[in-house]
Amino acid sequence: MFPTHRPRRLRSHPQLRRMVRETVLTTSDLIYPLFAVPGQGIANEVRSMPGVFQLSVDKIVEEAKEVYDLGIPAIILFGIPEDKDTDATGAWHDCGIVQKAATAVKEAVPDLIIIADTCLCEYTSHGHCGYLEVGDLTGRVLNDPTLELLKKTAVSQAKAGADIIAPSGMMDGFVQAIREGLDAAGFQDTPILSYAAKYASSYYGPFRDAAESAPQFGDRRTYQMDPGNSREALKEIELDLTEGADMLMVKPALAYMDIIWQVKQASNVPVAAYNVSGEYSMIKAAALNGWVDEERIVMETLTGFKRSGADLILTYHAKDAARWLGA
Ligand code: PBG
Ligand code: ZN
Repeated sequence: MFPTHRPRRLRSHPQLRRMVRETVLTTSDLIYPLFAVPGQGIANEVRSMPGVFQLSVDKIVEEAKEVYDLGIPAIILFGIPEDKDTDATGAWHDCGIVQKAATAVKEAVPDLIIIADTCLCEYTSHGHCGYLEVGDLTGRVLNDPTLELLKKTAVSQAKAGADIIAPSGMMDGFVQAIREGLDAAGFQDTPILSYAAKYASSYYGPFRDAAESAPQFGDRRTYQMDPGNSREALKEIELDLTEGADMLMVKPALAYMDIIWQVKQASNVPVAAYNVSGEYSMIKAAALNGWVDEERIVMETLTGFKRSGADLILTYHAKDAARWLGA
């Protein structure tokens, strides 16, 4: 008895496979992260992220042009300040590094969308994402006082030219606070992309090398989510939507594809997945060893995020992917 149903019929020719493919990754789906540092002419490769650099503002501008020419619609900016303190001054100061980078990029490449990551961990002396009680050595960030700083940070980023504000600190009520701040400053039309479901993850390790933002003590488990939880992610996205989030993010991506899927089903706004630093470094390390085919594994991974429900993908592979897709 030969089978009647033969799914292989539709796999027999590349053109046929192309015709019936359900999920197609495009360059429009991609967002490229950039790290701004003070100085001039600086391009420091990040030790744990081959191919990713800390760049001074002049180099960020060059990079932004390249990204735009590749057809990638947006970048997300992170900053490494000159000085760090307990008030995270470098985050909200009008002359902060992200503010400078945003202004320079907006002037040079006006049609590239600039997303500003709105958090404090790169700017606090202790590396936590907000205010700590004096003498606290556990990293139990004070929620409500931190909201005031996030509000100020978002407004100064928007003033500097950021098109989208992306709060990543997982404080309760941060979307509402930032929305109020932006509206009061005249930025009613600036969208918020909330890092709504962000897990306490070891996959952020290489990013903390890149952003020099590792907590000096304690960890982020009192504010970022526990990897075992999924219903809590739905709670977080419900709150962020109520508070006015325009888009939602799930982070990390690879070990959390079920969360991407659930967030997609439970919401009616665009969903972004953050393919984080550790996910990039694992693929990069294996590829550099010749153990995997980099192009195929990256495209398969990014397509998987899209299939699981991501409308947008933040990824350090964005430039390579855009080239492979044929800009
Ligand atoms: C800051 C922030 C982090 C990442 C994005 N924004 C790190 C963290 O929470 O420690 C991680 C991104 C990556 O790993 O690529 N809150
Ligand atoms: Zn942070």
